[in-house]
Amino acid sequence: MNATYTAVAVSTTEATAPSDNAILAVNARAAALRARGVDVISLAAGEPDTPTAPYITEAAAHAALHGNHHYGPAAGEPALRTAIAARLPALTPAFTAGDVQLALGTKHALSLALQAVLAPGEEVLLAEPGWPGHAGAVLATGGVPVSVPVTAATGFLATAADFEAARSERTRAVVLASPANPSGAVYSAEQLTAIAHWALTHGVWVISDDVYEQIIYGEPVAHVLALVPQLREQCLIVSGVSKAYAMTGWRIGWLAGPVQPLTEARQHISRTITHVPNITQAAALAALTGDQTSVREALQQYRRNRDLLTDALNDIAGVECPAPAGGMFVFPDVTALLQDGLWASTVELADWLLEHAGVAVVPGEAFHAPGHLRMCFAISPAAAAAAARRLTRHLPPVSSHTTPVEAAVDAAVATAVTVAKAASVEVSR
Ligand SMILES: Cc1ncc(COP(=O)(O)O)c(C=O)c1O
Repeated sequence: MNATYTAVAVSTTEATAPSDNAILAVNARAAALRARGVDVISLAAGEPDTPTAPYITEAAAHAALHGNHHYGPAAGEPALRTAIAARLPALTPAFTAGDVQLALGTKHALSLALQAVLAPGEEVLLAEPGWPGHAGAVLATGGVPVSVPVTAATGFLATAADFEAARSERTRAVVLASPANPSGAVYSAEQLTAIAHWALTHGVWVISDDVYEQIIYGEPVAHVLALVPQLREQCLIVSGVSKAYAMTGWRIGWLAGPVQPLTEARQHISRTITHVPNITQAAALAALTGDQTSVREALQQYRRNRDLLTDALNDIAGVECPAPAGGMFVFPDVTALLQDGLWASTVELADWLLEHAGVAVVPGEAFHAPGHLRMCFAISPAAAAAAARRLTRHLPPVSSHTTPVEAAVDAAVATAVTVAKAASVEVSR
């Protein structure tokens, strides 16, 4: 079942672009309720809720105490860029430190990439629902985001034909995120190969957002550049340590690709922030080169949480929840829950869940996908189990889920409300 999309590509303006502020707003409401002592489980964040692993924080502390406290290269430290290059698709010639530019997170890397390839007013194709930060970054660089609608029916993945239908003379780039946010969808090798050949044919840049690359539950994710190396001069990779290493606040990301956009990005960094801070670079180097046990353990935990939440949601009448192939979110379709009019939209439903179930989720409207809810499962097993219980208990509406005791309490409350209303009508007369 899918909700609201028709297969028409639309340009997004500043006013209509979904914003990640909507996501932050839900988080802020959940945090405010928690601060007032309300027991809230937040599935709203787009980040792991665990602290960064000690081997990483210790490297940062060591760098702060004994490290280089002075200016460094605009590109970033060579050792870190070498470690990043080693993780890029294996091509011939291989990527080296010189092909990598450090940035303040993946979002910043994305902005640098777009700035380097876009002229004002040029269009960037984005599969939607997708991460609102993509459209935001396009707008911030003077480009025009063009939404390419995707639905659950096609696994929330756009095909080369979908991109071709949305292409205009001003199309300059396409952003691919695999796994995607919010759907967790992963492109197949066939789909990526077709998209790469389409991009080559039409001179369209492919910006591959690989930030969830390590967070996958099946086969390793195919990479567009590994599949079609001819795309190398027309492809920019953006990624970072934020998600896989629980380092969202450290703000470390990177951009990799051909000389010309990399040189522009480097110049921009040099002219604006000089370089990414040394301490966070030391932390990222430790993250990438240290023992990866914590990453593997986190992935196992996410998989268990994903399965638990997916099963619980699919057991609720009116909810359809495909198991995501990657990433940190389930993205159930709850359109059927809206049909009896208790909630006019998923914004209202999300508000209601926060207030009545103590579970914070992001309404699909934040992704131009009304009828859906996004729930992050990069949380503790106990929180995932409690969230699943609360959702099961509160959805669908009371009538079909109450125990006899709860039904008696509900009936008593309803009677009291009726009596109170009648009394106030009497008084006001
Ligand atoms: C697809 C995608 N790309 C990039 C980012 C931003 O990553 P970073 O925190 O490294 O800027 C996010 C954050 O939610 C995301 O979902």
